[in-house]
Amino acid sequence: MSTSPDPINVADYERLASELLADGPAGYFNGGAGDENTLRANAQAWSRITLRPRVCVDVGDISTAVTVLGEQLSMPILVAPTALQRMAHADGELAMARAAQAAGTLMVCSTLASSSLAEIAAAAPGGPRWLQLYLCRDRSVSNALVDQAVEAGATAIVVTVDAPYAGLRERDPRSGFVVPEQIDMPGVTAALGRSAGLTVDEFFSMVDPTLTWAKLEEFIASAPLPVLVKGIQCGEDARLACDHGVSGIIVSNHGGRQLDNVAPTADVLGEVVEAVTGRVEVLVDGGIRRGSDVCAALALGASAVLVGRPALWGLTVGGAAGAEQVLEVLRHELEITLALLGVTSPRQLTRAHVTGA
Ligand code: GLV
Repeated sequence: MSTSPDPINVADYERLASELLADGPAGYFNGGAGDENTLRANAQAWSRITLRPRVCVDVGDISTAVTVLGEQLSMPILVAPTALQRMAHADGELAMARAAQAAGTLMVCSTLASSSLAEIAAAAPGGPRWLQLYLCRDRSVSNALVDQAVEAGATAIVVTVDAPYAGLRERDPRSGFVVPEQIDMPGVTAALGRSAGLTVDEFFSMVDPTLTWAKLEEFIASAPLPVLVKGIQCGEDARLACDHGVSGIIVSNHGGRQLDNVAPTADVLGEVVEAVTGRVEVLVDGGIRRGSDVCAALALGASAVLVGRPALWGLTVGGAAGAEQVLEVLRHELEITLALLGVTSPRQLTRAHVTGA
C-alpha cells in the first residue's frame, strides 16, 4: 500500500509548514512565552477531555451551521487574529480572508495585519470580519483603527486585554527575528500617520498598560460596534467584563504567548461559562487541533472556537487553498464527531457529552 504525501490533519499541515518557514517567522508564529508550558498544555488539555457519546440516534442529516453573535456561519470555527500573515505566504491576510469566506466562516483581523482592512475587505467582500484591537495609550490610534474597521464592513471589535506588555518570548531574540523589510503593518502605520518601518516591539510599547475596566467601559460606550474582550482566564474577570458592557468574551491565553504557566483554556472555560450565566456568548481559543476539541469546547458551553496557528500552517503550505483545506479538515472532523456523539448540530452538545470536565 502506498502512503499519500497529502496532508490529512492539522498536525500534517504543522509539519509541512515547519519545513517551509524560515527560523525567524517560524519562531514568531509557533513560539510561546517562557518555557512554553502553557503553549503545550493548551493542546494537551483538550485531548484529556473525554467524550461521552449517545447511540441509536438518527444522525442521517448533520449540519455544522451556527449563529455566533448574530453572524450566520457554516461552522463554529472562526479564524483567530494572528499578526503579519504575509510572512506565512505572499498573499497573507488576503488569502486568509478568501479561505475564511470560502469556508463560510468569520476572520478576526489582527491589528498587526500585514494588509490593510480595506484590502482584506476587497479580497473577500462577502466574508464577515471582526477587528482585533489593542487599546493604545494614544486612543486616537485605536480610534483610527476602529474607523478603518467600520469603513471595511467589520461587524465587531475584539479588544485584547491580556497584553499590557508583550510576553517574554524567547524564540525571537534567539532567532534574531525581525519583521522582513518588505512587510509592513499598513493599518497601524496609517493610524499613526507614518510610513512603514514599525517593529512589533515598538507597537507593543504603545499599548496602554493602564487599561482598567472603567476605561474599557468608556471605550465600549463610544465604540460604533459591539465589543468582545479576548484574554479572559477566570470567572471573576468574566463577570466584570459582563458588568462593564462587553458583547462577548473570548477565553484565551494568547496561544501561550503572554503569561506562561497559566492554565490551559480548556481548564478555565467551564468556570467562565458558569460565571457568565448566559449574559453574553463565550468563545475560546488555544490549542484547538481537532474536530473533537471543538466538540469538547462546545459541550463545555462555548458558542464557538477560534483557530490561529492551524490556519497559519494551512496558509503557509498552500495560500488561500491551504488555509481553506485546514478549515475544511476541521469541519469534516467536527461533522463526524457530532454524528458519533449522537447529535446532528453543534447546539445540541451539552455537558452530558463530556466526562472529566
Ligand atoms: C501579537 O498579538 C502577538 O501575539 O505577537
